[in-house]
This record gives sequence, C-alpha cells and structure tokens, in this order.
Amino acid sequence: MPPCVEVHVLTIAIISQKGGAGKTTLAIHLAAAAAAASYISLIIDTDPQATASRWSQWRDGREPEVIDCGAPSLLATKLSKAEELGADLAVIDTPPHADAMARQAAKLADLILIPCRPRAFDLAAIEATAELVRGSRKPAFVVFTAGPPRAPLIYREAEDLIGGSEAGGFGLDIAPVVLPERAAYHHSTAQGRTASDYDPNGKAAGEVAALWAWTCGRLGLSVRGQVHTSGTPA
Ligand SMILES: Nc1ncnc2c1ncn2[C@@H]1O[C@H](COP(=O)(O)OP(=O)(O)O)[C@@H](O)[C@H]1O
Ligand SMILES: [Mg+2]
Repeated sequence: MPPCVEVHVLTIAIISQKGGAGKTTLAIHLAAAAAAASYISLIIDTDPQATASRWSQWRDGREPEVIDCGAPSLLATKLSKAEELGADLAVIDTPPHADAMARQAAKLADLILIPCRPRAFDLAAIEATAELVRGSRKPAFVVFTAGPPRAPLIYREAEDLIGGSEAGGFGLDIAPVVLPERAAYHHSTAQGRTASDYDPNGKAAGEVAALWAWTCGRLGLSVRGQVHTSGTPA
C-alpha cells in the first residue's frame, strides 16, 4: 500500500483510454493558460511516451513545469511535491490503455476531463473511460476535440450518443466549450509553444481561453486573480 499522502493542490486529471484523443494537447494548453494567468501550474506527465515532457524540453523550460511520474503509487507524492513547490494547479496527463494510472489520477483529481473526437469510433471507445471515471465519483466532463469547427449537428449527435443515460448512452457530462480542429495546435506544439503563443488572436487561442474560463468556474479559481480561499471545487 502506498503511504497515505494528503493532497490539496487543485488537480485536473486528463483521461481517455484512447490514444490520439487530445489528452496531451489539452493538458499543456490548460496548464499554460493557468501560467499565463499568473497561477503556478505544472503538468504531471504519467505517460511513458513522455510527450508533454518532450514539449517542455522544446519549450526551453518555460512555464508550465512538467514533472514525470512513472508509477500510480508515486502520484500522490508527486502532487504533494507540487504543493510544496507552491503550485496552485496540477494537470495530470495520462497514457492510453493504462487502467491503474488513470484510476489513480481520477481518485486524486478535483476535476476529470475526457478529451474525445466527435467521431463514431471514438465515441464508442469512450465507454471504458466512462466506467473508470464513474467509479471515482469525481466531477467529469467530456471535452470534444479536433472536430469540425462549424458543424453543430455533429456535436449535438455526439452529445446524444454519450450524454444520455438511457438507450445506450454513457451518462457523461459534456463541457460547454469545444476545441475544434485548428492548424495552430500543429504549428505551435512542435515548437514547444501553445496555440495561444503562436497566434494570440487566433480562433484556437480564443477557444482555449473559453475552456480555461469554464475550468476556473468548475475549480473555484478566478480566471485571472487569486485562488479562492476554499480551494476545492464546487
Ligand atoms: N483541437 C485540435 N486541433 C487539431 N489537432 C489536434 C487537436 N487536438 C489534438 N490535436 C492533434 O492530435 C494529435 C493527438 O493529440 P494528443 O494530444 O497527442 O493526443 P493524446 O495525448 O490523447 O494521445 C496531435 O498531433 C495533436 O496535435
Ligand atoms: Mg498524450
């Protein structure tokens, strides 16, 4: 049994059992948005592929800091280390097909985000993640990623498919902000940047800002200012 470590740093777990869903993209953009808002944020990279860590190296160590975590039993200790370092927010990036790590991240999180492409096969594959997340009893939301920018019907159909709890739905809550397919993610992340660094006035930057604002609301953080005193999500 790992030691019982008390953890207070606000924590977002990014979970999807599917590869290529947009986990790392979401993790780095939320953590970077927090850093841009003068919060001390860091990413805990639990993926052996270490994509977030590589992005941090390309970024020459600019915020947010990325620390790695190789085993689920170490995650709580890493979070208390983050707390000791004065972090306001920790974003846990998780690998696909990794039940134990995803479960532990969900257990320690204040908020779980599940990136998912609004495509039939991706939506069907989300069932395993939905079950895992349900067991954690934490607030959890699907964030649609890399779908067409102007196709409301696709998002409505996707919501119907995974949102409802009857007739085959997975009963998942859906975040009100989506991160559609934007070239800015490709151009920026390969250079250790974010879509907002790359084009601060671009559409992707605006969508990330909207998602960050919504995330702040879920966590009880003010969008730009101080951490709310209670520090726990509503
Ligand atoms: N909203 C988006 N628009 C365009 N490309 C995206 C978007 N989200 C993710 N991607 C791209 O999809 C690929 C997989 O994303 P990634 O974040 O690495 O997924 P995961 O971490 O779940 O495997 C990457 O090439 C990434 O740049
Ligand atoms: Mg990844």
